[in-house]
Amino acid sequence: DFHLAPKEVELKSNGYFGTFDKRQLQRGLQVYKEVCSACHSLSHVAFRDLKELGYNDAQVKKFAADWQLKAQTFDDKSGDRGERPNVPSDHFPKVYYPGTGSPPDLSLITKAREEGPAYVHSLLTGYTKEPAALLAKYPDSKTPDGLYYNPYFANLNIAMPPPLTQDGQVTYLDGTKSTVDQMAKDVTAFLVWTAEPNLETRHDAGFAAGIFLLIFCFLAWGAYQNVWRDVK
Ligand code: HEM
Repeated sequence: DFHLAPKEVELKSNGYFGTFDKRQLQRGLQVYKEVCSACHSLSHVAFRDLKELGYNDAQVKKFAADWQLKAQTFDDKSGDRGERPNVPSDHFPKVYYPGTGSPPDLSLITKAREEGPAYVHSLLTGYTKEPAALLAKYPDSKTPDGLYYNPYFANLNIAMPPPLTQDGQVTYLDGTKSTVDQMAKDVTAFLVWTAEPNLETRHDAGFAAGIFLLIFCFLAWGAYQNVWRDVK
């Protein structure tokens, strides 16, 4: 079998105590904006949600207004369709993709796929040449024109051209070196956030519940001792 299981990816959001690295999420947003958004929608996310990444109102307002794909408008009376700049309450507009295949909306992709974060990172960094052993075993399996070989994709040939191809493709505003692996990690971290912005709250609640149960164990044990104190 030539299909590979995703490689583990180390993210701050992993594990029961995972949190978000906001600077990393900001870098991931930059990768989404400069690379992925040409083809992929992010329709569950509103511009104002980006405040959670550490931007202020003015920055979000500007980010929304500058977003290249404009909000679609529809006039009920005249039936006219038009466009206007995005405002913070708008969601990221839907992307129309004319190529082959259909790029899925990325808002929930890290939840929609098994081992989502590891999968996305592996997929982005996993493009290779089709192995000779595969061709030897199945002579008809040559990757068709317009598809690309990727061992992490379930059917091995994917309609997405390798999106992250060279170091420095994105110039990070925070000065982090943008290797392909770094960009892939950052956009993955960002897509973990889009799929579950409340992850930190959930982890905090779980932690608090754990502490409570621990204390409750001692209380219950103490009550048990007390109730049975006089019984020999
Ligand atoms: C599919 C991520 C950039 C076109 C996918 C999938 C993911 C993904 C996770 C889903 C694979 C699956 O179904 O399991 C990304 C990320 C990008 C990016 C994070 C930016 C770094 C692009 C760009 C294009 C594109 C720039 C267009 C030139 C597609 C297409 C598919 C796809 C057509 C469907 C593939 C198929 O079903 O064969 N992408 N993508 N993506 N992407 Fe991208």
